[in-house]
Amino acid sequence: MLDTLAIDVQPTTASRLTELDPANMEFGKLFADHMLSVEFTGGEWQQPRIVPYGPLAISPANSAIHYGQAIFEGMKAYRQADGSVALFRPLDNWRRLNASAERMAMPTIPEDIFMQGLRELVKLDAAWVPNIAGSSLYIRPFMFATDGALGVRPSETYHFGIITCPVSAFFTKPVRVRFEQQYVRAAPGGAGYAKNAGNYGAAMLPSKLAQQAGYHQLIWTDASEHQYVEESGAMNVMFVLDGKLITPELSTSILDGITRRSVLELARTWGVPVEERRVSSREIIEGLAAGRLTEAFGVGTAATIAPIATMGYEGRDHDLPALTDTSFARRVGAALEAIRTGHAADAHGWMVAV
Ligand code: PLP
Ligand code: COI
Repeated sequence: MLDTLAIDVQPTTASRLTELDPANMEFGKLFADHMLSVEFTGGEWQQPRIVPYGPLAISPANSAIHYGQAIFEGMKAYRQADGSVALFRPLDNWRRLNASAERMAMPTIPEDIFMQGLRELVKLDAAWVPNIAGSSLYIRPFMFATDGALGVRPSETYHFGIITCPVSAFFTKPVRVRFEQQYVRAAPGGAGYAKNAGNYGAAMLPSKLAQQAGYHQLIWTDASEHQYVEESGAMNVMFVLDGKLITPELSTSILDGITRRSVLELARTWGVPVEERRVSSREIIEGLAAGRLTEAFGVGTAATIAPIATMGYEGRDHDLPALTDTSFARRVGAALEAIRTGHAADAHGWMVAV
């Protein structure tokens, strides 16, 4: 299949590569020269096209705008030690995109369209993959409904696209977070496990309020009791308590993070005890007070490994111990970076060359 899918490629005649300053990259501002575009009409995906990055025309009655059938993914391509470019676990993102599509009553994307489109796009824009430590090409696959009709029902037509942008570290220093005990990100049976646009829209006000109170992010707690940790902003969250790596178990209200999965796999191969289970904010704060909680950190594609410096809980700030060279967060962050950039062996088969 992979060799037979024809992608119509229209290269740009006006590259913007000279606008790229790898030492000063703001997340998601400058996009690479090309994008992938595929339309779903008549019940099937049409021929994929790679075209110069630019605006899309949509109907003012577009049903994604009105009713929110819109999903996305976040993944990265890394410059390798030998100068080539490779993707980190792209099939995991493809599978999750399709899980989101199913939850939102949208069509799934065939593997060959996703993978071949992705590889050809990244190959064409390979010069945009930065080679500064900690930097990468962030890749944003997305799909949205395109019917121009106000009936509340699944759209019959869709657009699938991929855009890319060079990025550096998302958080530059350890983050301040607070446990959210008023607003809810997702409830059991909702769409929290999907990467649909509405989850992010509904999180903006609570996140803004947390930022106004001096925090970078919040930690969502469960919808019924506001006791159990869910995840944090655009990251899954992990703790080191009594020398064990602890993270909330997956559910319908938590995004099944690919960084989360990777960190757990590394921890297990290193013999670190891992617990995926319910974990309450009280257990975390009491563990910290007793000196049993040594680390807390967020994990995600954009955020990578983001150590938490301070946790706000019931109106008080609680500081975590400073990281050391032997901290798990540091070690796992360095191990992931080495695998992703080809400086360490890819024992898990995570990397895919473009
Ligand atoms: N949780 C949410 C809500 C996210 O948006 C993300 C980012 O994608 C994550 C967790 C982490 O997932 P991943 O590691 O696959 O990027
Ligand atoms: C990602 O890590 O890909 C995210 O989802 C973060 C994004 C919402 C900024």
